[in-house]
Amino acid sequence: MKTLIVYYSLDGNTEYVANKIAVIAEADTLRLLPKKAYKDKGVSKFLWGGKSAVMGESPALEPYDIDLAKYETVVFGFPVWASRFAPPLRTFIQDNFDSLKGKRFLSFACQSGSGAEKAFAKLEELLEASLKKTVVFIDPKDKASKEKDEKISQFGESMKA
Ligand SMILES: Cc1cc2nc3c(=O)[nH]c(=O)nc-3n(C[C@H](O)[C@H](O)[C@H](O)COP(=O)(O)O)c2cc1C
Repeated sequence: MKTLIVYYSLDGNTEYVANKIAVIAEADTLRLLPKKAYKDKGVSKFLWGGKSAVMGESPALEPYDIDLAKYETVVFGFPVWASRFAPPLRTFIQDNFDSLKGKRFLSFACQSGSGAEKAFAKLEELLEASLKKTVVFIDPKDKASKEKDEKISQFGESMKA
């Protein structure tokens, strides 16, 4: 049985991790794309995205083609927004709630400072299930380092177990 990495990324940090762990763990990836893209520049990037996260929005997503029955493990990757998981994940989980039941869940978060622990707790609430493993990365693409790349590799290796 296979592993699926479902993620949203605005600036590429989450995508950077998702692509690396996918290669190591031989997992498939699904990048969620909101129909109305979040702003990626200026103050409105933080205001709009932060408000959307705080309000618990479920933005409409571009269509995707995935058969969740094929996967035993699902890994959720997201940037932390206002100490929450980025909203596109909420839409995905709500839309696929029944198909996700009984799977093994892992998660990783990318952030600049703090808030990931609260975001993981909220994700568990939404999933109505616990995350078997959580890992936090600090801007792993924008502030890349050998140590961060090593931590990504270790996470990918642990996913095989
Ligand atoms: C709307 C918004 C809110 C954010 N809120 C937080 C936060 O609460 N805590 C934090 O440490 N970083 C916060 N960040 C920074 C991102 O989580 C961080 O840069 C992350 O690595 C970006 O991932 P991405 O490149 O995949 O989008 C925020 C960024 C945005 C755009």
